[in-house]
Amino acid sequence: MTPRDIAEAGRLVRESRYLIAFTGAGISAESGIPVFRGPGGLWRKYRPEDLATPEAFKRNPRLVWEWYRWRMELVFSAKPNPAHKLLARLEEKGILKAVITQNVDCLHRIAGNRRVIELHGSLRRVKCTRCAYKAEIRAPPKEDLPRCPICGSLLRPDVVWFGEPLPEGELREAFLEASKADVVLVIGTSGAVDPAGLIPLYAKKQGAKLINVNPEPNRYTGIADVEARMGAVEFAKKIAIVLGIGEASLG
Ligand code: OAD
Ligand code: ZN
Repeated sequence: MTPRDIAEAGRLVRESRYLIAFTGAGISAESGIPVFRGPGGLWRKYRPEDLATPEAFKRNPRLVWEWYRWRMELVFSAKPNPAHKLLARLEEKGILKAVITQNVDCLHRIAGNRRVIELHGSLRRVKCTRCAYKAEIRAPPKEDLPRCPICGSLLRPDVVWFGEPLPEGELREAFLEASKADVVLVIGTSGAVDPAGLIPLYAKKQGAKLINVNPEPNRYTGIADVEARMGAVEFAKKIAIVLGIGEASLG
């Protein structure tokens, strides 16, 4: 990434009519939440089919809950970093219209973004495996196997597991936002998981420009109009200067 690329990213953002952001685990990496793929990624240490599928939960709910309790602990103690804050400032200024995220940590909302579409659910919610019960939580459940207060069945984290469909309304809204966007800020995602990973490609097909912020090459490398080969926080600080947002307001 050269200074010209940052300037170009800044120009695209400033001149956009309808800017959206599409984010993944990488935007929260510098908040202390591990990513899934690549160096230090969770899927290098654990097998998704043991922990993040409905079958795994049926087989061994205790193990699945243990893993999720650990991830909930991380998420509950994490704070938004300057990259989350940049997106909140951009929405405040009326430039950013929506954040579409694959993350389950709620850090976009905590940073102050109002228009957040969560495609993969939230670790700050549980839901019943049998009835319609759903609840916000403020801390990981204390019990080994938390149960539904209505029907007594097992509760589970309200996240999307492999083999499960994405929430229909959120998915529809995300594609609608992508169709309206003229610039998409893609931050911290491998793009490896569909259908979410298709969203930037769909936006591009509809004529949007892509800014791809990632220290590593990913699915959008070679397609993106600006390739920002750096961490999310470094990018946020640099583009904040170009946009005159003031680095201090990201602190
Ligand atoms: P991945 O773990 O697949 O990708 C994380 C991306 O972040 C990688 O491309 C890294 O290079 C990049 N990265 C690492 N550190 C970064 C930093 N400091 N700043 C910016 N980028 C950084 O995570 P996702 O793309 O979010 O699914 O994964 C998609 C889905 O796969 C997740 O939502 C999850 C997972 O299995 C479900 O839970 C359904
Ligand atoms: Zn229930």
